[in-house]
Amino acid sequence: MEFIVKKGKIAEFATEALVVPHCEEDKKLSAGAQILDEKMHGLITEVIAAGDFEGKLNQLAVIYTQGAIPAQRIVLTGLGKQGELDREKLRGAFAKAAQHIRSLNVKRFAVARDLGISALPAAEVTEAMVEGVYLGLYQFTPFKTLERDKIKEIKEFVILEEKEKNIPDVKAAVKTAETICHAVCFARDLVSTPSNEMTPSDLAREAETMAAARKKVHVQIIDVQKMKELGMNALLGVASGSCQPPKFIILEYRGGRKGQAPVALVGKGLTFDSGGISIKPSEKMDEMKTDMAGGAAVMGAIMAIADLHLPVNVVGLIPATENLPGGKAYKPGDILKSLSGQTIEVLNTDAEGRLILADALTYAGRFKPAAIIDIATLTGACIIALGDNVSALLGTDDKLKAGLKAAAETTGERVWELPFWEEYHELIKSDVADYKNAGGRAAGTITAAAFLSKFVGDYPWAHLDIAGPACLAKDKAYIPKGASGVGVRLFVRYLRDLVKDEERKG
Ligand code: BES
Ligand code: MN
Ligand code: ZN
Repeated sequence: MEFIVKKGKIAEFATEALVVPHCEEDKKLSAGAQILDEKMHGLITEVIAAGDFEGKLNQLAVIYTQGAIPAQRIVLTGLGKQGELDREKLRGAFAKAAQHIRSLNVKRFAVARDLGISALPAAEVTEAMVEGVYLGLYQFTPFKTLERDKIKEIKEFVILEEKEKNIPDVKAAVKTAETICHAVCFARDLVSTPSNEMTPSDLAREAETMAAARKKVHVQIIDVQKMKELGMNALLGVASGSCQPPKFIILEYRGGRKGQAPVALVGKGLTFDSGGISIKPSEKMDEMKTDMAGGAAVMGAIMAIADLHLPVNVVGLIPATENLPGGKAYKPGDILKSLSGQTIEVLNTDAEGRLILADALTYAGRFKPAAIIDIATLTGACIIALGDNVSALLGTDDKLKAGLKAAAETTGERVWELPFWEEYHELIKSDVADYKNAGGRAAGTITAAAFLSKFVGDYPWAHLDIAGPACLAKDKAYIPKGASGVGVRLFVRYLRDLVKDEERKG
């Protein structure tokens, strides 16, 4: 699908459908809608007066223009109350409009760039609009072979700008949003792909392909032989039950100053988590093909920041493996000597994410990072605590956590901080080793984070548990059910904010 910025007016533009947003309780139509209404002899006013369309959030009404204007249809799109409008609502409303337009089998539609919204900067409105359309229209279809001709696809979305002088800025905002959404959908595809088609080797190959297409991204894959030499025994322990060899993926993007300490992003890459010997119930076990969503978010984030040419240095670290039972599998009671040298008593082989992350977090120290952020579908307890819409945030650095919260506020990827008091750290001490990998039922998300913290070293660190939002059971306005790509936009926004901050400081 193409996103096109054109100079022009909606009342004069020939297209199959025009999206015309309207806010609830607004007495007047926006300037653009006003002109359409006049040309159509008051039809829009009539639809509103009749009560068929009030402008409630995500409400839609389709009006056929009968040749009164060159556009074939008008899709009135409710944005809710003007005073309550934000980026998230814009994304949702535009996703809903685009999905409806697609269901009509329309191929081309358009909107005015100027929606008459004053509460947000123009570029932010444009970005939100494009994000809603792009992300809301995502579908995962590579494994559907029957009736492929019935799959509906929109070909083009035109954003009409009346003023020549604004065109470069609008184009830039559209390009930025498109670039980020492309990376979100890349992450969604990785997560949606089943584990037989997305093994650790496949994931590593995806990283290689992504890096090869980008000048400033370098990739290195550590294989089993090297893992053994380095002593990544926590990762190797988890991988031992699988015939698929684990891979440790290292992506480096150098867009910032030479010598500037990078931000390290660490993503859990369990391409399938059966639980291992501590096997999971078979119901819903299929969902554990999405247990590499953290890794996918890191790959997507690096893709986007490279394509945006952000002046930052970032390294992505993705330990990738399967977790399976078998004759060679690691077992409850086993003690693993991690890359850090610290020992871990395995009490539950299903608490595998923290084991592979332990080695990855230690490895991150090699880059002397300015900060380490890890992202993982780490605990079922997180879904119990916060539901499936919110990621847990924990960590040791207030500034880093504040930056992530601010970014999340902008992108609509909700995060909520959990406490990290010392008494939680007691719960992961082992009688026979340094730590145990499961701290019991109480505060499962926090004890998992406490465990991770032991492998971070002395760097500012934050942890995101995305067990809830990584994969949705129900459609959300601009996130169709399934893999959400959560984390990609959050990381990109965090790094864009960081760049702006540094520019301000000079
Ligand atoms: N990948 C799971 C966590 C998970 C569960 C993510 C459901 C998304 C949906 C993780 O590896 C896991 O199994 N965690 C255990 C930890 C426990 C054994 C300490 C859990 O949450 O039950
Ligand atoms: Mn598990
Ligand atoms: Zn897992």
